[in-house]
Amino acid sequence: MEEEDGLNTMKLEEKVALITGISSGIGRAAALLFAQEGARIVGADIDQEKGLEVIEAIRQTGREAVFVKTDVSEKSEVKKLVEKALAFGRIDVLFNNAGVEVVKNLKDTTEEEWDRSINVNLKSVFLCCKYTIPEMIKNGGGVIINNASVAGLVGSFSPAYSASKGGVIAMTKTLAVELATDNIRVNCICPGAIETPMLRRVLEKQGNAELVRDERTKSYPMGRFGTPEEVAQAALFLACDESTFMTGAVVVVDGGFTSH
Ligand SMILES: NC(=O)c1ccc[n+]([C@@H]2O[C@H](COP(=O)([O-])OP(=O)(O)OC[C@H]3O[C@@H](n4cnc5c(N)ncnc54)[C@H](O)[C@@H]3O)[C@@H](O)[C@H]2O)c1
Repeated sequence: MEEEDGLNTMKLEEKVALITGISSGIGRAAALLFAQEGARIVGADIDQEKGLEVIEAIRQTGREAVFVKTDVSEKSEVKKLVEKALAFGRIDVLFNNAGVEVVKNLKDTTEEEWDRSINVNLKSVFLCCKYTIPEMIKNGGGVIINNASVAGLVGSFSPAYSASKGGVIAMTKTLAVELATDNIRVNCICPGAIETPMLRRVLEKQGNAELVRDERTKSYPMGRFGTPEEVAQAALFLACDESTFMTGAVVVVDGGFTSH
């Protein structure tokens, strides 16, 4: 935010932020917040129509933003995404946020569903990091934020989903160590239930969505689920220079759910 005396205190001024899963939920909220804090946004998603709406909303505020239609589980598409992002000259912040849910117990999970969960939620992080990190190193450093989940910390509605998110957490810590001397910080966020289209789909797949919602809300000490904006604020903190000694952290944003 700019102060009245003209001093600029925006947290991501002039930074280039690549955000995946920009078309909905947490990715959308993060893109709008990062842009508000001065970042130029490269947004990736498979949903072009909604992605372009987010980009247009950012441009309306006077900030630069581009959309690159990308399936983040596909190597060739991620390579192109990074190349296109470099039209801005560099990538300072990578927010690996795109994800999909599988809401099934192990015996009902098909091999295809297992592969989709691992590919979109975990392999995508590998691919986006693989092609972005060399550019960050050339540029003298950067920040990576991975969107994991409390489902990677405690049991959840799906072994396939939990395994993918547990993998993201383990990979975050390993990369943090690997890249510490390259001036690249790597942290992850573990949101609890957050009010997004994904959460609505998860609740619907578990039965009567309203009854399931009431039941699950009881396991949240704060008595409610979170908002995409609350997760975006945590991502912003990790992206900016307020967290310069943080790397390898697992930041839980869950209203007390995992402390219960
Ligand atoms: N909502 C929650 O309760 C919750 C909790 C914990 C973690 N998360 C994680 O937060 C992240 C964002 O979730 P959300 O709740 O905003 O979900 P969402 O469904 O609202 O948004 C996810 C976005 O990812 C995109 N996407 C899906 N597959 C893709 C692919 N192959 N390539 C590119 N984009 C793809 C979708 O099109 C969508 O725009 C996910 O990684 C999710 O696992 C969500």
